[in-house]
Amino acid sequence: MAENFNVRLNEAKYYTPEASCREQSWIGDYNRAYQAFLADPDGFWDSAARELEWFQPWDQVREWEYPHARWFVNAKLNITYNCLDRHAHSQRRNKVALMWRGETEDEERILTYRQLLQEVCRFANGLSRLGVRKGDRVCIYMPVVPEQIVAMLACARIGAIHTVVFGGFGVSALNQRIRGTAAKVVITADFTYRRGKAIPLKNIVEEAVVKAPSVERIVILRRDAEKPVEIHPEMEVDYHDLMNGVGRECPPEPMDAEDPLFILYTSGTTGSPKGIVHACGGYMVGTYYTTKHIFDVKDSDIYWCTADPGWITGHSYGVYGPLLNGATCLITETTPDYPTPATNWDLIEEYGVTIFYTAPTAIRMFMRVGEEWPNRYNLSSLRILGSVGEPLNPEAFEWFYQTIGKGRCPIVDTWWQTETGMQMLTTTIGEPMRPGFVGKPIPGVVADVVDKTGKPVPPGTGGLLVIKEPWPSMMRTIWNDDERYCKYWDTIPGCYTAADLAVKDEDGYIMVIGRSDDLIVVAGHNIGTAEVESALVSHEAVAEAAVIGKPDALKGNTIKAFVILRDGRQPGDKLKNDLTYHVRLTLGPIAIPSEIEFVRSLPKTRSGKIMRRVLKAQELGMDPGDISTLEE
Ligand code: PRX
Repeated sequence: MAENFNVRLNEAKYYTPEASCREQSWIGDYNRAYQAFLADPDGFWDSAARELEWFQPWDQVREWEYPHARWFVNAKLNITYNCLDRHAHSQRRNKVALMWRGETEDEERILTYRQLLQEVCRFANGLSRLGVRKGDRVCIYMPVVPEQIVAMLACARIGAIHTVVFGGFGVSALNQRIRGTAAKVVITADFTYRRGKAIPLKNIVEEAVVKAPSVERIVILRRDAEKPVEIHPEMEVDYHDLMNGVGRECPPEPMDAEDPLFILYTSGTTGSPKGIVHACGGYMVGTYYTTKHIFDVKDSDIYWCTADPGWITGHSYGVYGPLLNGATCLITETTPDYPTPATNWDLIEEYGVTIFYTAPTAIRMFMRVGEEWPNRYNLSSLRILGSVGEPLNPEAFEWFYQTIGKGRCPIVDTWWQTETGMQMLTTTIGEPMRPGFVGKPIPGVVADVVDKTGKPVPPGTGGLLVIKEPWPSMMRTIWNDDERYCKYWDTIPGCYTAADLAVKDEDGYIMVIGRSDDLIVVAGHNIGTAEVESALVSHEAVAEAAVIGKPDALKGNTIKAFVILRDGRQPGDKLKNDLTYHVRLTLGPIAIPSEIEFVRSLPKTRSGKIMRRVLKAQELGMDPGDISTLEE
């Protein structure tokens, strides 16, 4: 598969940023920083944690009882104290924390650290008024607006566990997450705005809570003041009414370092999505440290991570990491190609963005529409570029580096996962960058590429990417399913298996090739084949379905579905549309197959397991490999 990336291991091409990048960075020399970590791993994380404020210090940096770790044992903290109070009580008091932009120029809001703290405290008091207590789950299903971040931080303030659901998910995905966490309160908005259209969210929530008995209250942010949606008072409450008359102060709940901070669902290879649980202390230290050292955030930076807080990137690098560092963050409810493909470049120029973190799928879309769009804007404020979510192929790297960074800005292609909570591999600022390769484990992380027995593979040979030591922001468990958590550490004894295939070069640079399991990464988002299949099968016309990922130049992968119809149902374009619509409603637009093929049978093992690998090989004209278990 390495050929897909046009990289031959022996034809190394490196880009070396100017020496000043490294000299002026927090991280400095990579090798020195990495060796310092290896010499004293606990001491390394101990000093990172000491840069933050704790209500009570730890007795021990980590306690490792394979496969469960505890970090900053017995320490007490509140992450919002470090995201907000620490700055609001310092010279950063009136520094801008959030700059929000909607789709049009006149939709803008700016909050300083002092103002954000007040908003969070007021909303936290509002949640307490609704009876939300420490440990309760609160589901946040909102567009990217300041209130979305306020809601997350308000939960953390009082020790409630937030579970943010991406606003593009449909009814059944939302219902599953509300039921899975037994959420007491759901926070939503009337609309999200996309490409000039108002997309209703409240209706989706109304349907999603029908079979979710845990829900006691729904909080609604009404954005359309002219035609306010109706509030049904027996269950619903207006966002602003909830904050009326509450105090501007709310003491931060002292949390144990191991108390859960949030649950975020990610697609699983089989069955239902997994509720990844992150803990307060370790997550705080991991995201604080990486935002500072991987993005090199300084006080003068204008930081923009384009990810929606509905994904882990938005949690770690759109909200918590940058606020922990007292950064000024841009957040937007914009679409990169609306109204023109220059939206992002326009925003970078207008806000003077210095650090820009985005996804390969967006970069490839920009590449396709041409450099005349970015070239109309002054992008000279940029100093660091970041990429995440899927492999950044060399052509896209080159384009990002030259056309956007003008050959001046280091690119940090960061590899990590919902489960890891923080960035794990990259090429740190100032080190030579090798297009197609993410780079090396960052200081704080021990990773390698190994075979099935856990033995490191020689350079140039593909293997599995593994993490060999626990790290502070690792997931602690899977909500209500610790057995499933243990599997991550079982496949290769002693190691956390990331389920990604990778290859290492002679210098230790790692190229991530793709998933080794049944996940399809579409435009940087993980979609489980099982989820799409069960959405299809839930349609009354479908008897069976199998889904595969097909390589796609823009999105990385697209979804193709093979469908067996129930007796008496006729294939046709109308039914294809119905099925597409059905997937849109149940899972959301991101999971829609771009192709649906009606078939009479599916390749299966004798035990009845669908062999997607065989379908994929047929589809792509490749060798299907071992088919000895295939049923006749
Ligand atoms: O396959 C890898 C890919 O995205 C997966 C994790 O997806 P998720 O949990 O949704 O988190 C995405 C954002 C952190 C990984 O197992 N992936 C992530 N970053 C990269 C990547 N593949 C290649 N290069 C990356 N930089």
